Amino acid sequence: MKPIYLDYNATTPIDPDVYEAMRPFLTDHFGNPSSSHAYGVEARKAVEKARGQAADLLDCDPIEIIFTSGGTESNNHAIKGAAFARRKDGRHIITSAVEHPAVTEVCRHLETLGFRVSTVPVDGTGLISLKALENALTTETILITVMHANNEVGTIQPIEEIVQMAGNRGILFHTDAAQTAGKIPASVKELGVDLLSVAGHKVYAPKGIGALYIRSGVSLEKFMHGAGHESNRRAGTENVAGIAALGKACELAKRNLGGNALHMQRMRDRLRDGLKEKIGGLRLNGHPEKCLPNTLSVSFKDVDAAILLYEMKGVAASAGAACHGASLEISSVLKAMDVPVEYARGTIRFSTGKSTAPGEIDRAVEITAEAVKKLR
Ligand SMILES: Cc1ncc(COP(=O)(O)O)c(C=O)c1O
Repeated sequence: MKPIYLDYNATTPIDPDVYEAMRPFLTDHFGNPSSSHAYGVEARKAVEKARGQAADLLDCDPIEIIFTSGGTESNNHAIKGAAFARRKDGRHIITSAVEHPAVTEVCRHLETLGFRVSTVPVDGTGLISLKALENALTTETILITVMHANNEVGTIQPIEEIVQMAGNRGILFHTDAAQTAGKIPASVKELGVDLLSVAGHKVYAPKGIGALYIRSGVSLEKFMHGAGHESNRRAGTENVAGIAALGKACELAKRNLGGNALHMQRMRDRLRDGLKEKIGGLRLNGHPEKCLPNTLSVSFKDVDAAILLYEMKGVAASAGAACHGASLEISSVLKAMDVPVEYARGTIRFSTGKSTAPGEIDRAVEITAEAVKKLR
């Protein structure tokens, strides 16, 4: 029997309708969208249709979307592109203490190139400190990059408030929406952001495809150099099948956003309640309300997460701490939230998906409870 999959924040399976949408572009419609003959025209049509579908999900103009190889590339493109384009105006960047490595490592790299990066702390629920962010702003600040929602604990950041606080100072605002686009509303107009990253494989499209929203009028330094694809903003022959898939995934996500979110939340809450009933010494991480509907980060006191995952092989979930030989490495997110070590080391992230069934949740509760009892 396959393990029960409760790791949708790590990746999602490809939706059957998404697979059908991409299939022709892996077989018959193999043309290069830059070609002027019928094969090329077919491929170009698919790319532009997908751009419209992605723009519809993000509430922007299709011209403001470029396709990338995923969330990591979108973040690299946005952050490096903004930093290099604006370096004459200043060399200061602000970020948060709970970003994904696809943001923190980019910032760290920029530090080696002479940029200064301020990392704003979060509170015990993972929410960024607005006061600290305000204090970090300087006349040299050119970019703020704060994630929309956290992949480990699910906390949703007050992006609109941060954008408002940064005000009309000409500071670019980027948000990593890898965990939100397609799960909760992520309208670039409502958020007020200049740049927003999307990862296809978190929304039932395949791995290796993503998108970046670039607000009209914002120019970034080129990230991929080459021919003039994507209106001269991202070189490289388009991943037509992946793009068609992402487009379809965005269309489906938009159509079912509320229903899917409600279902994932019900499954998440059923899991939380079941675990609470069966296991003592539990700690829930993340914000109790401002949280992704599908994410449950739970710490089992005095248990080692890696050993626990091994014991509960019937459930596929993620650990919030990793053991490297004799030393225990607690995730930077849990550290930033000051989760006590006796809890942090036993942290598991469960994340539900649109097709998670109640029976799977009940079985996952049993398996997890048995494994925790055994280890304690
Ligand atoms: C918040 C966040 N940002 C970025 C990424 C990276 O996206 P990708 O795997 O498409 O490069 C992930 C994926 O784990 C993520 O959760």
